[in-house]
Order: sequence, then C-alpha cells, then structure tokens
Amino acid sequence: MSIAHDETILIVDFGSQVTQLIARRVREAGVYSEIAPFNNAEAAFDRLKPKGIILSGGPSSVTDDGSPRIPQAFLDAGIPVLGICYGQQVMTTQLGGQVEGGEGGEFGRAFIEIAESCVLFDGLWKVGEKHQVWMSHGDKVTEFAPGFRIVATTEGAPFAIIADDEKRFYGMQFHPEVVHTPDGGRLIANFVRHVCGCAGDWTMAEFKEAKIKEIREQVGNGKVICGLSGGVDSAVAAVLIHEAIGEQLTCVFVDHGLMRMGEADQVVSLFKGHYNIPLVHLDVETLFLNGLKGETDPEKKRKFIGKTFIDVFEIEAKKVGGADFLAQGTLYPDVIESVSFTGGPSVTIKSHHNVGGLPERMNMQLVEPLRELFKDEVRALGRELGLPEIFVGRHPFPGPGLAIRIPGEVTKERCDILRKADAIYLEEIRNAGLYDAIWQAFAVLLPVKTVGVMGDHRTYDNVCGLRAVTSTDGMTADVYPFDASFLTRVATRIVNEVKGINRVVYDYTSKPPGTIEWE
Ligand code: XMP
Repeated sequence: MSIAHDETILIVDFGSQVTQLIARRVREAGVYSEIAPFNNAEAAFDRLKPKGIILSGGPSSVTDDGSPRIPQAFLDAGIPVLGICYGQQVMTTQLGGQVEGGEGGEFGRAFIEIAESCVLFDGLWKVGEKHQVWMSHGDKVTEFAPGFRIVATTEGAPFAIIADDEKRFYGMQFHPEVVHTPDGGRLIANFVRHVCGCAGDWTMAEFKEAKIKEIREQVGNGKVICGLSGGVDSAVAAVLIHEAIGEQLTCVFVDHGLMRMGEADQVVSLFKGHYNIPLVHLDVETLFLNGLKGETDPEKKRKFIGKTFIDVFEIEAKKVGGADFLAQGTLYPDVIESVSFTGGPSVTIKSHHNVGGLPERMNMQLVEPLRELFKDEVRALGRELGLPEIFVGRHPFPGPGLAIRIPGEVTKERCDILRKADAIYLEEIRNAGLYDAIWQAFAVLLPVKTVGVMGDHRTYDNVCGLRAVTSTDGMTADVYPFDASFLTRVATRIVNEVKGINRVVYDYTSKPPGTIEWE
C-alpha cells in the first residue's frame, strides 16, 4: 500500500551510485518521487502516473550491445523527461542522435558555460555565465537528436545541457544531484516545477496526515505491536501509529543491555511518561550477556543477538495477545529495488540485525509507515510529531548495539567501560557544536591492552578507538577531520575519567575500504 500523491516524479534507475540523491533533490523541491529500476519501470509508471520522468546515470555504455534502454512508451507519453549522464545518452540514442565513447572521459569538477536561455535556468543562470558542475562520464553525446538545441557547454562536453522545449525533453551530461554541482538542486527544482508543472507543496505535515489516515484504514479495529530498538526509526513509527490508532498500539522494548549511556531510560521515559504509550519494557541484559559469553566471532555475535531479539519479542508479543499487525520502521533505502547487472547475489559483508523473518513466523501483517521516506525525512516527520530533538537528531545506532563495538568477548564490565568513554566523546562533540555535522560518532573498546604511565605508576589497560564519519546513507563514508586539539581533549578526558582505558586512538579509515562499525 502506498499513499496516492497528486504529483509524482518517476526516477528510472540505470544503476548509478547516486540515484537516491536525485529522489532527495526532487523531494527537497517539494515533490514526491519514487525510484524504479529501468527493467521494471513500466509498472511504476502505471501505478504512479508521474508528472515527469528523470533518467539516472549508470555504469553502462549505450554503444554496448544489450545496454539498458528506456521503455519507448515513456518517450511517447507526452510528459517531460530529464536525462542525466547515461540518461541523456540513452535518450539521445533512442531519439536518433549519436553517442560515442569519449577518449579518457571526464571526471570531477568542470565549468559549464551558458550558451542560451532555458527554462531550467529560471532565476538561476544567465547567458554567458560560467558555473561549477560535476562530471563523471566516459561516453558523450556527439550529435543531438532532432528537435534539440544546445543550451550549455563545457570543454569536455559540447552538449553539456540540451533541450527540446516543445517535447519538454532535457539532457545533462553532468550530475546535478550531487553536492559538487552547487546549483544542481535548483536545476532539478526548475525541471519539476517549471517544466513538469508540479506545485511543489509536498510537505511532512501533509505526509503525516495522509499516513495517519492510511494507518487507520489498514488497521481498522486491529491490534498493532511495535518493537522499539531505541533508535529514531522505530520511535517515529511508533509515535505516528499511536497518533493514528491510540491504545490499539502496544510497544515492546527489548532492552538487551547493549545500549549507550542513559539510552534505555530515555526510551522508557519518552514512551511511558511523555506519550503515555503502552510499553512493555523487557530487561533482558542477563540473557544476552550470558549468550554472548566466550563468543568472539563477529558474525556469530550478530546472529545470536538477532535471533535472541526475535525470540524474546515473539514470546512477549504472544503475551500481549491478539495482535494482528507488526509495525516496523523500514525506510525507503531498504525497499528500493536495486539494479543488478550481474544478476548474482551480492556478498554478505555483515548480517544486519532486523526483524525480517518475524511477520511470517508470527502470521502477522506489516505496518511500515516509513517505507517511503529517507532518513532525514524520518527526522523531519519526528519533529512534526513533536519528538524531542535529542531523540530525532540522534546518530544511527546499530541493532546489535555495543556488542559490535567491543571486538572480542562482550562482558558487562567491558560494556560499562565503553559506555563511559562513548558518553565523554559524544559530550565533547556536542559541546563543540559538531554533532549534527557528523553522520555517526562512537567509541570502540579494543581487545588489546597496552602499557602506560599515570602518576608514577605503570598501567596496563585497554585501548579505546574513536570513530566519526560523514555520510549521506551509510553506504559510503568519509572520516570526520577533527582538529588535533579536539582529539587531544577527548583522549585526555577518557584516560583520566574512565577506569580501564589508558590509551586512545583515532580511526582514519573511510568506507570503503573500512566499514563504519568495527564488526
Ligand atoms: P557498516 O558497519 O556496515 O554500517 O558500514 C553501515 C550503517 O549501518 C549501521 N549498522 C546496522 N544497523 N542493524 C542496524 O540496524 C545492524 O545490524 C547494523 N550493522 C551496522 C551502522 O551503524 C551504519 O550506520
């Protein structure tokens, strides 16, 4: 089930790494958008009845046999189309133009010169100006299709932006969706508003009201049960569902004892105290810690936690009795069908902890009110629902909790040591005003002891690792470049204030090749 939006833009994915950013830019322009893989886009087209189509970039070359194409019906539908990079090339090819393999291609920053005026530049760019854009292409258009004109050029791409105003077809060789094209979001906004004619009035308040209605229709008089993890997603889902159906919702908080400092108390006081939502708080720390005893293998730790979480939740859900629906905080990035060129399964790097198999086992239907949202939109919805900022703005936290931030055996003592170090690190980050600029920051307790000296005494204690990354989706990440003075301050505080740690190191690995979590 999905909400009917009056105005939707369909994004056809040809496998670019940054397709999701196109959807975000469109939504930032106040227009709802969905992504569909090129080989399954027709169904989405029929369902969404889009006001316009955006074709993403992709790794293929249109000159290769069997490379992906756009369904012809999309070009015949009389609605606007914007092709980006591969999207521009595939559109040009299908409309009768020429694309050739560029020598060496063009990657990174380029400057675009505006040759003619165009509706995409409304209120933004003028003829003769030069602006920064981001290129990443091997092939390029060498002859545009009939009906098009060139409106902007770069040194490496004479057809940097092409336009057929009559058909309302536009093509860009560069990537307007990435932040390195500073005006890219506004180019996309001009396309969806001025070309596609969307009003741009899709707001979180409207989404909330529509969702509440939809949840009421789906659930009727049924009972819903929701597992809380302490994270933003499950909390926002629960509060939204509560607003829709009140006492028909029961939340179960499986408190595995692997949360950060003060976190479990915050969940309980927010739900029981602030919202007065029926909450079953299960303190099952001992069960989890006993099960983790002696286990050092990261995958076995993850699997044990995932399975035990589900077992405990299932028993409790049965006790609540008669629940017909299971609520989950599934987000849009988890539902987007990815484009697979090899057709093969991708390698499992880590078994993520989720409650995937639970609905079938328990014979329940799913309520997933966040399925259409990106993480930052979930936060906006949380704010709309009045959730406190400290909760809504919180960095993502993995389901298996601190267990995967304690490489080696997890014990209560090690969890307590890590919690203290982590709290100091986060406090300093907040005090420095850096919390919101960072995607995730956390401490790790290493299974290594080193020698130190404090006062006149020899110490032999644990090493604490600090990690902080920037990211848009957790798929790739950059290391956050703290000042040396900041890291020195944190290291000094941790060693002085946390018994059991005598050395602090900073993790300088991006993702890839590292992952964000250490296990
Ligand atoms: P990695 O370590 O794979 O993490 O680079 C990417 C993002 O996913 C989070 N993460 C998890 N989230 N259950 C979750 O809900 C998990 O099992 C899990 N493992 C990692 C991680 O914190 C980061 O944001």
